[in-house]
Amino acid sequence: MQEKKVFYITTPIYYPSDNLHIGHAYTTVAADCMARFKRMQGYEVFYLTGTDEHGQKIEKTAREKGMEAIDYVDGIVKGIRQLWDTLLISNNDFIRTSEPRHKEVVQKVFQKLFDQGDIFLSQYEGWYCTPCETFFTERQLTDGKCPDCGRDVELLQEESYFFNMAKYAPRLLEHIDAHPDFIQPESRRNEIVNFIKSGLDDLCVSRTTFNWGIKVPFNEKHVIYVWVDALINYLSAIGYLADEEKFNHYWPANVHLMAKDIVRFHAIIWPALLMALDLPLPQKVCAHGWIMLEGGKMSKSKGNVVDPRILVEKYGVDAVRYYLVKELTFGQDGYYSEEMLVSRINSDLANDLGNLISRTVAMISRYFAGVIPAPAPATGVDESLIQTARQICQEAGEKLDKLDFAGYLISTLKLVSRANKYIDETEPWLLAKDEMNRERLATVMYNLAESIRIALILLSPTMPTLMARANRQLGIFNDISKVTWAEAGQWGLCPVGSQVKKEEALFPRIDLKNLEEAAVRPEIKAAAKPEPPAPAPAKGNDEFISIEDFARMDLRIAEVMACEKMAKADKLLILRLKVGDEERTVVSGIAKHYSPEALIGKKVVLLANLKPTKLRGVMSQGMILAASGDEELEVLMIEKDLPSGSQVK
Ligand code: ME8
Repeated sequence: MQEKKVFYITTPIYYPSDNLHIGHAYTTVAADCMARFKRMQGYEVFYLTGTDEHGQKIEKTAREKGMEAIDYVDGIVKGIRQLWDTLLISNNDFIRTSEPRHKEVVQKVFQKLFDQGDIFLSQYEGWYCTPCETFFTERQLTDGKCPDCGRDVELLQEESYFFNMAKYAPRLLEHIDAHPDFIQPESRRNEIVNFIKSGLDDLCVSRTTFNWGIKVPFNEKHVIYVWVDALINYLSAIGYLADEEKFNHYWPANVHLMAKDIVRFHAIIWPALLMALDLPLPQKVCAHGWIMLEGGKMSKSKGNVVDPRILVEKYGVDAVRYYLVKELTFGQDGYYSEEMLVSRINSDLANDLGNLISRTVAMISRYFAGVIPAPAPATGVDESLIQTARQICQEAGEKLDKLDFAGYLISTLKLVSRANKYIDETEPWLLAKDEMNRERLATVMYNLAESIRIALILLSPTMPTLMARANRQLGIFNDISKVTWAEAGQWGLCPVGSQVKKEEALFPRIDLKNLEEAAVRPEIKAAAKPEPPAPAPAKGNDEFISIEDFARMDLRIAEVMACEKMAKADKLLILRLKVGDEERTVVSGIAKHYSPEALIGKKVVLLANLKPTKLRGVMSQGMILAASGDEELEVLMIEKDLPSGSQVK
């Protein structure tokens, strides 16, 4: 028997300093999507998440609440577990750094590194940012503040243990060079390489001024640095130094997923520690961007957070997960707004996917008494649909393997759009008028059901309840728990003779007019101030701008994928644009001159590096160009078939 393929994926272990928000939900849902995808490919997946419970910040927060640290974190951790249940996270384990199974390993690791001379006692003098739990040297500070979060730092002078990190820098650089996929995306890899090359200091790995942490086993005065403690969770959870067989089965990890804020810890400190322990390095350290709110990054310490539980209550778990997975273009930041979430549910899920399913079920009911008919051999237009399905299935898997979550969903939705177009091309309502076309009509119905089957498989890692809900109408899956990813790649598996039945819409349209941004706490919205405007570009002289000034404008061809009127704003349209591999939302004041349908599929010119701004609650990411006279207005459109993302200059 062939040995089962193993896939070990982790999220960061989150600080239980406060309830988590949709930024944390993003990482955990994206990793879950990956875990489910790999399980469907036949891998034995170990998906790990958990909580990072020690450190000065948590000790301080608990003290402010008049509580013992452990009692405080117990309450928050309970909420975090419930949140992951609500979001249908399929983690195989949940590690808490306060658990004995973790503490023992951390102490053994510390002892081992001390015994072999990689950890030594010395004197620390430098700066510490408590919210980030990070040490900085004088020259690393920005205007005397934390270079990461901009807050005050405190001067520390204490006896500390140090880890001999500089010793591992050359080996680390070699590893990064030999494994181009180790740090993803590439921009982060370059950043890390530059950081290492600028010189690594030995890392301070113990503190003496607070208690809430794991003690250095041979010197109880010292608490082990919380990042060293936390990173070791990836080992302790799978039995390092406790259950050798289990550990060897899962290690090294395939993917450590996180946001860009903590990639340095995972791509420098972590591999250096692993090298010192003589362990293989993880395959990939992948850093996604941040979910931003007006006013900057959403974060617990700023308090400008959106509670995912409220969103799930309002829109359902599938829709919220879909929104999250599609929201961040690979490696980049994205802006959250509830209007965007609703507009995405309406356009992608209610219009495109929901309509495809409901129209297909309605037509099979009407023309074939609800029984999926057998197809005749494919003709040209059928071949084109089948070809698209095959290609998209492969593309979706490849994008997921590259951790390009948004790209995978953009690809998958192309199949849904292609199938909707197939209905327009084949005009089943005309075929149904003549009994002579019965066979052709049957083929069209079968091909639609088959496209839906494939789309449902591809979407199921993102939307775990979708397949079951759709199957109540379609009856095409015998045992949902056994459906494999490979089945999406085989055209023709949809069983002929299945009975379909019409039920409620899978994703009812949501009226934007009724929207209240209930999920953002109101006092927080008011407090989140927009960032100051960027400085205006310098002018060469009063009348002319230089070619460099012009070159500052990033003008791109963008394809309009979806467009709708903004509720309660008769001048505004919301456009969903494809710009190369990226998706953007742009609000444009052209509703008096264009209907949304007139723009869909058109190629327009986008000023792509205009500072994003919120218009009537929707974050607009750029501006499309239009020429205007007194009354008339015309959006600049590109006639030739140039690819979206091409530069306009
Ligand atoms: O850093 N957008 O914990 P943490 C996207 N305990 N992702 C976000 C986000 C946002 N606005 N805000 C948070 C820690 N995240 C350490 C980790 S691991 C050994 C120790 C996600 O609670 C993202 O994954 O501050 C980010 O890296 C993580 O939460 C930080 O979580």
